[in-house]
Amino acid sequence: MNPTLIALGKRTLSKLFPDSLKLRYASHLPKLETFRKTHQEEYPVFPDRYKMYEYINELVNNQTVYYCEFGVFEGASIKFWANQNANPSSSFFGFDTFTGLPEAWNKFVGNKGKTTFNVDGKFPQIDDDRVSFLKGMFQETLPDFLKAYDNKHQLIIHNDADLYSSTLYVLTSADDIIVPGTIIIFDEFSSMLHEFRALEDYCSAYLRKFEIVAATISSNNYYEQIAIRMI
Ligand SMILES: C[S@@+](CC[C@H](N)C(=O)[O-])C[C@H]1O[C@@H](n2cnc3c(N)ncnc32)[C@H](O)[C@@H]1O
Repeated sequence: MNPTLIALGKRTLSKLFPDSLKLRYASHLPKLETFRKTHQEEYPVFPDRYKMYEYINELVNNQTVYYCEFGVFEGASIKFWANQNANPSSSFFGFDTFTGLPEAWNKFVGNKGKTTFNVDGKFPQIDDDRVSFLKGMFQETLPDFLKAYDNKHQLIIHNDADLYSSTLYVLTSADDIIVPGTIIIFDEFSSMLHEFRALEDYCSAYLRKFEIVAATISSNNYYEQIAIRMI
């Protein structure tokens, strides 16, 4: 094709369509179907995330886990994990600003503004000394945590930060400790431009591969959470 015509076409297209988030979302949605078709492995699908957590805990035989949760808010999921895994040697780390989202979470429908999930800096009340919290931006707290990282147990990373930037930061920074067998949970997987895109970009840039071990389908029959195991 004529290069001048291609350039003209590109210029026209860039002016014709607005730089619209909705359009970007719409163009990304078919990727979810491609993802589903690409991943032919068999895995159970649960009606809610807590059933999926129970399954993952059984999958690791209720053994000692090193559970790192990125995005804690009021602690619903980290509390559940600490309650269900009674192993005295397990550790549970919750990372959060505790002042809410550092930037707006723009979704296909119903955006959540900056500072949504603000709990005024307060940690959730959990009477369990296996649980600790790291307050601040992941970008501030994770580097020192990784420097001191010394763990031989099953690592579970739970990404529940909603945002592309935060999730991509966690995955890329933690690449050295993400080993074959590491389980990674995504809470808002079908938010196409955020957690889904972060996983795709991380795996592509760091040449990482995984298998799906569990997922959930919401009451409105749409993909919600997903758990993967690195290979
Ligand atoms: C959806 S909430 C977490 C919900 C929680 N896991 C639960 O089960 O209820 C998302 C959290 O991610 C936190 N967050 C997002 N990006 C962050 C970042 N870069 N650093 C620290 N916290 C972040 C927000 O403060 C917010 O509390």
